[in-house]
Amino acid sequence: MRFVTAGYTISGSLIQRLRTAKRVVVLTGAGVSAESGVPTFRDALTGLWATFDPLELATPSAFARNPKLVWDWYAERRAQLLQVAPNAGHLALAQLEARVPAFLLATQNVDGLHARAGSREIVELHGNIARVRCSREDRVVKRWDEPLDAMPPRCPACQAYLRPDVVWFEEMLPSGALERAEAAARDCDLLIVAGTSGEVYPAAAIPQYAKSAGARVVEVNPNPTPLSALADDTLRGPSAVVLPALVDAAWPARKD
Ligand code: OAD
Repeated sequence: MRFVTAGYTISGSLIQRLRTAKRVVVLTGAGVSAESGVPTFRDALTGLWATFDPLELATPSAFARNPKLVWDWYAERRAQLLQVAPNAGHLALAQLEARVPAFLLATQNVDGLHARAGSREIVELHGNIARVRCSREDRVVKRWDEPLDAMPPRCPACQAYLRPDVVWFEEMLPSGALERAEAAARDCDLLIVAGTSGEVYPAAAIPQYAKSAGARVVEVNPNPTPLSALADDTLRGPSAVVLPALVDAAWPARKD
């Protein structure tokens, strides 16, 4: 049997697996927030890394060379995020979590939109742009004085520069985050990977752990990625359409 929903054909066996899955893991990337108006990184024309050089903005050495440039770039993105809202894809993942016995959402996104949509079990693999931390002691800082000079604000405790609490290239992921996501992937029945190019490791390895452990892997992405080859199902469309279609097909809304 196949279900045609929102213009997508979803196999009956996938719907059945979704309904009966005991443990579901979802790995998301920037594409999931695209329909909220948050730019991705690697899409050819609209991705951030098409316009900006990640080596000048998203590495520890870039921050050491030009802390003000890096601070301002993230501050601008933080301000832009105040203007956006979760989309139907984020909301569908929160609904999915409410319907399955065990669930983990591992996201590479730093925008906080999954939490705002109501997801609860979230691992933020790359941090959260809304948080700021001390660049020396890693302590999260909630209040600081705006500097009078053209430099980033400083830690009230040690005077080191403050920085966004996100993971930059060449940096480790937050302690325990990757371990939690990997353990859940190795122990799940179904893994959905949505809106990621699958180019950034170690996050991109997570679907392989699930696959090796016998889970069904579903990719949601309008475009093929290096992860497509290991997916059992590839749903080629925007996540704000495909994810609600999946949840609706598995748990049809009562019309009465
Ligand atoms: P990318 O920009 O690399 O990939 C975005 C993916 O989303 C692509 O595969 C697109 O085809 C897909 N996409 C675009 N629109 C979509 C839509 N409406 N629905 C579903 N998918 C869509 O973003 P990430 O894979 O998240 O890291 O990038 C991984 C990491 O690289 C980011 O966390 C960030 C970046 O450098 C750090 O900043 C450390």
